[in-house]
Amino acid sequence: MSLLAIVEKKVHNAFKTCGYDKAPALTGLSDRPDISDYQSNGALQLAKKEKKNPREIAARIADVLKTDSFFSSVSVDGPGFINMRLSDAALIQSFCLFKKGKNGYQRSTKAQRIVIDYGGPNVAKALHVGHLRPAVIGEAIKRIHQYADDFIVGDIHLGDWGLPIGLLIAEIQERYPDLPFFSKNYHADKAVVPFTEKDLEEMYPIASQKSKNDEAYLARAKENTRLLQNGHRGYRALWRQILKLSVREIKKNYQKLDVHFDLWLGESSVNNRLQKMIKRLKKQGILKSDNGAEVIKLGTSVTTKNKLPPLIMVKSDGAVMYGATDLATIEARMEDYQPSRILYVVDARQALHFEQVFSAARKLKLVPKTELLHLGFGTITGPDNKPFKTRDGGVMTLERLLNEAVQASMKKVEQSKNAAKLSAQKKEVIARKIAVSAVKYTDLMNERMRNYVFDIEKMTALEGKTAPYILYGLVRMKSVLSKMPKAAVFKGCQMVLTEPAERALFMRLYQMPEFFQTAYQNEAPHVICDYLYKLIQDFNVFYHDCPIRGAKEPSIRFTRFLLTATAYRIAFDMARIIGLEIPEIM
Ligand code: ARG
Repeated sequence: MSLLAIVEKKVHNAFKTCGYDKAPALTGLSDRPDISDYQSNGALQLAKKEKKNPREIAARIADVLKTDSFFSSVSVDGPGFINMRLSDAALIQSFCLFKKGKNGYQRSTKAQRIVIDYGGPNVAKALHVGHLRPAVIGEAIKRIHQYADDFIVGDIHLGDWGLPIGLLIAEIQERYPDLPFFSKNYHADKAVVPFTEKDLEEMYPIASQKSKNDEAYLARAKENTRLLQNGHRGYRALWRQILKLSVREIKKNYQKLDVHFDLWLGESSVNNRLQKMIKRLKKQGILKSDNGAEVIKLGTSVTTKNKLPPLIMVKSDGAVMYGATDLATIEARMEDYQPSRILYVVDARQALHFEQVFSAARKLKLVPKTELLHLGFGTITGPDNKPFKTRDGGVMTLERLLNEAVQASMKKVEQSKNAAKLSAQKKEVIARKIAVSAVKYTDLMNERMRNYVFDIEKMTALEGKTAPYILYGLVRMKSVLSKMPKAAVFKGCQMVLTEPAERALFMRLYQMPEFFQTAYQNEAPHVICDYLYKLIQDFNVFYHDCPIRGAKEPSIRFTRFLLTATAYRIAFDMARIIGLEIPEIM
């Protein structure tokens, strides 16, 4: 139980004492910390229902609460809000709450089984700025669920099976026509390829461009795709080589971001299942022919109320479509994991696609009790509000973006007061951690659906709502704790509160379960970013106002060390949820 839950119960009981058994306690964190810690607007709602004066009801409830020494003050404000301030004794006596669950957070509902689909890069294309958000947001959402003790499996869902592969094969064939993969009687699987993953990354955009100007080239790429999907031996072998090279490169990139997938499946993983599904749906009459394509007809959209366009399963040229693989993937995930939810962290511009897929999945009864949820996100833009590019208008690769962030962070590290005593290698490690954290924090602190401007200087600044500000706070906490005396020194000490800043920090620590719960319920990492920022701010005021080691009175020193230790534990956990990397020193 959190501190808020305890207060809520007390308010509920007060309503009962006044004869209102079923009145909602409606208690939350106060938005007026200057006058109260918690606030209830239960009286307002009750008065509406009972057609009574809200202030009168609130006053009666407040009178009951005033008799409880848990509160140092209870007042009725505005139209009938009940404002409560906890006594210092209540804060101290509730310290044991931090020992329950995870720093005081305990889930109240049954653990869920979840599959989360995020990342979604396409094979043989360099990862670029567009891949940052799904990776960072998906990883944070996964870690939020892990912290809440849900069972969650993350799948990268590689784009490894569509036209891009057909295009690559076309380009490879032009450049290396003599490779054995292209010979009619190919049967060995040992052929080595003469190109690297970097070559593939260079080839793909060229192939894509050619296909736009050259119809015959495009037709060849489509035919390659169809043959690959239908089991052409040589193409399959070539595809396996492409996949191997590309996945190695993709892994390196995600490693740098400290993003980890449990499953490295892709669109190709469901090919066999999909072929069976198509046959079955044909037999059942669910698959309809539409201008040569095979489609599933759908009902109306829940959001727009318009009729949804049919989901195309197989195109007229025989190629299976993106939606079809997604549908078969749902079937596979249901069999493998029986999830109660499947989450998709994918660009908001794919909203219609997911609505179609989800609607089809329900029509096929693939998900009787499973919630399918598309968690979209907005775009990272340049100062011109257009999708973020390099200065000369090219695609900003993830690698380049991270390197630029490391350079900006390095400048800050060089300026720090510790710079002189750090080796070049140490500085590099610190700069990397700061850079990755800065990029992630900026991405996550912006609400998922919002677009935001990519500004390296701003995100690596030491002041303001930034990762460096937070990391600096964490490093400071750690340094305080490294000087904490052994427990025996504090034998017999009791906690005491003497300064407002101690109290403010204490209250903030007690709020973690509520902030976390909001983040959890709404799949909203930005709520954790907010909380963490506020926590560090409160800690910094505390650090400034309250000498810790220098406190004369042992109980005061004891209290301040305990507060710092608890603050560090909570801040560390929250920082790790959103993927920040904490340097040794800054
Ligand atoms: N590869 C896709 C793309 O680049 C994203 C995949 C998202 N996941 C999914 N199950 N459709 O657009």
